[in-house]
Amino acid sequence: MSTVSIRRAIADDLPHLEKLERESFPDPWSGSSLRHDLLQGPGYYLVATQGNTVIGYISLWFVADEVQLIRLAVMPSRRRQGVGRMLLACGLKEARDRQAAYFHLEVRVSNTAAIRMYQDAGLSIRSTRRDAYDKPVEDGYLMATDIGE
Ligand SMILES: CC(C)(COP(=O)(O)OP(=O)(O)OC[C@H]1O[C@@H](n2cnc3c(N)ncnc32)[C@H](O)[C@@H]1OP(=O)(O)O)[C@@H](O)C(=O)NCCC(=O)NCCS
Repeated sequence: MSTVSIRRAIADDLPHLEKLERESFPDPWSGSSLRHDLLQGPGYYLVATQGNTVIGYISLWFVADEVQLIRLAVMPSRRRQGVGRMLLACGLKEARDRQAAYFHLEVRVSNTAAIRMYQDAGLSIRSTRRDAYDKPVEDGYLMATDIGE
């Protein structure tokens, strides 16, 4: 199997991002939301590819010296092979390169796979936001790491 590469997303990737959203989230972003965020901002998108196939992506928002992880998804058949960790590491590197101070995200409290991955990368749970999600309604953990030092 060919190696996994990471690169900036381009407009041609949008159908793949839309598919990843549908496969990965109960409340997927629409194609038009993805298009607007990627092409007009504020989204910064990286995709993981294997051969010609987009197998995962991460999106971040850079606001002042803070970075918010907005979306991170890996194709179901390619999960548990280190792709999510690789995308997250690239997002954290980009944050460090831009001298951001604080990296944060929100995650469903039931999403133990993602929570473990974020903890492994050095993020910790800072607070719980009640009913942060719908479809289904669920609390969210705010997870963060200080990356400025
Ligand atoms: C969360 C997600 C991105 C992880 O991607 P992945 O490529 O499967 O993750 P990795 O293989 O890099 O795993 C990294 C670590 O995360 C944790 N992890 C990942 N999947 C796990 C699972 N099913 N159960 C428990 N821990 C898991 C483990 O600690 C793992 O390290 P290990 O394999 O050495 O034990 C993927 O499961 C996904 O797309 N889920 C649906 C979308 C989603 O929930 N996104 C996050 C929203 S905040």
